[in-house]
Amino acid sequence: MNLVFLGPPGSGKGTIATIAKEKLGFVHISTGQLFREEIKNETLLGKRIKSLIAEGELASDEDTIEILKKRLEKDDVKKGYILDGFPRTMAQAIALKEMEEIDCVVIFKLEKDEIIKRLSGRRIARSSGRTYHVIYNPPKVEGIDDDTGEELVQRSDDKEEAVLHRLDVYKDETAPLIEFYRKQNLIRELDAKESPEKVFQQLVKIIGYNYKE
Ligand code: AP5
Repeated sequence: MNLVFLGPPGSGKGTIATIAKEKLGFVHISTGQLFREEIKNETLLGKRIKSLIAEGELASDEDTIEILKKRLEKDDVKKGYILDGFPRTMAQAIALKEMEEIDCVVIFKLEKDEIIKRLSGRRIARSSGRTYHVIYNPPKVEGIDDDTGEELVQRSDDKEEAVLHRLDVYKDETAPLIEFYRKQNLIRELDAKESPEKVFQQLVKIIGYNYKE
């Protein structure tokens, strides 16, 4: 089963994809995380997109489709995957339709106030992209990744100005895709305000996955 997670920044797409990976075995593909790895490794692409991402702008469709295509060439995707943060523009949605078969597009619904609370408290481990929240999902030791012991950092695009810009970009560029997928009867919606455990249970139900704790 192949899924697309679609929703505003901070609505919990990455958090729920991580749980679905651990519990259901989905491969989690986040174009944002693929870009952050390019930046960390100081590749040519990473240098080109670093400031765009920090400001909350989208990377070009060309770069994004290219990086996704490369990731989809790996064998593990045959198990079924979650695309987290792709597609984000109509051009990307059309490219995906030509490349892959998608079973459901899951919409994460969350209000702006809650999004801002979540993103201002988010911290990440740079090596894995693992995500925490200073209040909602703190690490065992403050400021330290549970797995690797590395120091947690704030994403450059989680500063208030960039967050507000990302919300505008979502509204203008990405939200129109909901209609595109509704016409294909692929949309499933979930209430992203509940706890991660409850959002995960909603996911299992709406995609019709046979899973018991
Ligand atoms: P990307 O990394 O995809 O960022 P995003 O879509 O803005 O999404 P986020 O990662 O901010 O949020 P999320 O929904 O995954 O929330 P999370 O689970 O972390 O993209 C970054 C940038 O890369 C883009 O701005 C763009 O520049 C570029 N890019 C990426 N894809 C692109 C594309 N296709 N085209 C062009 N450019 C692209 O949760 C947020 C916080 O809330 C965390 O702290 C978490 O612990 C907490 N939390 C999560 N769920 C809950 C819950 N249920 N209750 C309480 N707290 C919760």
